[in-house]
Amino acid sequence: MPRRSPVVVLVAALALFACGGGDGTPTTTTLRPGTSTTTTSSPPTGATTSTTLPPAGFGAPGIGDPYFPNLGNGGFDVEHYLIETTVDPETGEITRGETTITATATAGLAGFYLDFRSLEVLEVAVDGATAVHEADGADLRITPTSPIAAGEEFVVRVRYRGTPGQTRLPGLGLASGWIITPEEVYVVAEPDGAHTWFPGSDHPADKATFTIVTTVPEPFAVVSNGTLAGETHSDGMATFVWEMDDPMATYLATIVVAELESVDRTGLEGIEIRDHLPADLAAEDPRPLQRTAEWIEFFETWFGPYPFASYGHVVVSGFGAALESQTMSVMDRAALVDVTVIHELAHQWFGDSVSIATWQDIWLNEGFATFAEFLWIEDQLGRDAMEADIEGRHAFMKRHSHRPISDPGVDELFGSAVYQRGGLTLHALRVKVGDDVMRDILRTYVARYTGANASTEDFIAVAEDIAARDLSVFFDAWLYESELPPLP
Ligand code: TRP
Ligand code: ZN
Repeated sequence: MPRRSPVVVLVAALALFACGGGDGTPTTTTLRPGTSTTTTSSPPTGATTSTTLPPAGFGAPGIGDPYFPNLGNGGFDVEHYLIETTVDPETGEITRGETTITATATAGLAGFYLDFRSLEVLEVAVDGATAVHEADGADLRITPTSPIAAGEEFVVRVRYRGTPGQTRLPGLGLASGWIITPEEVYVVAEPDGAHTWFPGSDHPADKATFTIVTTVPEPFAVVSNGTLAGETHSDGMATFVWEMDDPMATYLATIVVAELESVDRTGLEGIEIRDHLPADLAAEDPRPLQRTAEWIEFFETWFGPYPFASYGHVVVSGFGAALESQTMSVMDRAALVDVTVIHELAHQWFGDSVSIATWQDIWLNEGFATFAEFLWIEDQLGRDAMEADIEGRHAFMKRHSHRPISDPGVDELFGSAVYQRGGLTLHALRVKVGDDVMRDILRTYVARYTGANASTEDFIAVAEDIAARDLSVFFDAWLYESELPPLP
């Protein structure tokens, strides 16, 4: 491979750093040496630009997220993760971990970064050859024996062991990452906990397919994303192979290691519905889990076809909430109520199939799942009940000053404004454009961005397209200003 001159490499690094798109296409592909300095697009408001540029020829240690400058990586796109672990359910330790990443270089790479924290790395190999690696904060800095050419596919294998830690956002009362309870070991990783248990490009802009292979002692079972492609038993150990064939953001990858029973639900053509419950709950069969098929059908009338081949819930203890892990929502037993079940279901369209472009766009997840609650209340209890509920939430938000939800800030990423005002925004849009146009907007938005990423501006563009009118005054008031508009 011809060596690039240093100036070309530096331009490539700048271009990579400016790249925030899910397709990995640098936003500055037309740059030539000498024209690089000021033409890169600047990140959205509220951006932190503390990440220093990597040495020339290295991929960037971040993908360009305004709130999490170190998450994701520049210089390559991941296509597939094979995550193989052996987990000790008593201690929570990964006694044997191996993640194999298939990726494509988006620039010539002398080396690159992976997000990974706190575990002991035993070996890194690139295309089969042992590579130099070095821990660098929450990143692993990898230098292969020879550079990788732009456009080339390469395979990185990381062998590791240890007990994963957790990350914690100041404003989120929940830890994210690896949770160890007396009953189970499991992962709930939003927004930045995935790289505590496997190395990768830990940002929703770099979605990939996954094969998750987990070995545990019997009688423990492992539940993960997608479909169970294999289960083998030998010497008192059980290995579960789960396949997620649709693109998935890293934070939505999960494993739950526990003693679980499966409960099959029938009633929907083409979608396998199966819950995984501890024995006492399997016997009781909680009511909120019995109507999934019906609720999928209801949401299909608003959002379009359910975007995956399967859906289910896995019930755990100890974290007090629920997370919309792709095709397999992780529910705390305390969260087994109708409204949470439907909230996580709605995320399969909004958040999972359509992923946010950056974490700043989080209202596209939580506001939409909250709006789905309104639709469901209307369907179950009628229009008056929905309006009373909405008025209550509006009154609540009016009492609590907050930043605009287009830029909530990292501390309020999961604050009530993102959820409640996000939902209220969509309700106001529904009233403004009418039900038929609203359905069309939501369906078009999902269809256009399914398996990919969307930003707030992308949603506004779809809404204006379908409504065939300029909605800038409306969206400015609801999304970009802090004063809460009155209910329509
Ligand atoms: N997305 C979750 C919901 O609203 C909330 C959430 C964010 C979460 N981070 C988490 C839940 C971490 C569990 C763990 O449905
Ligand atoms: Zn949610």
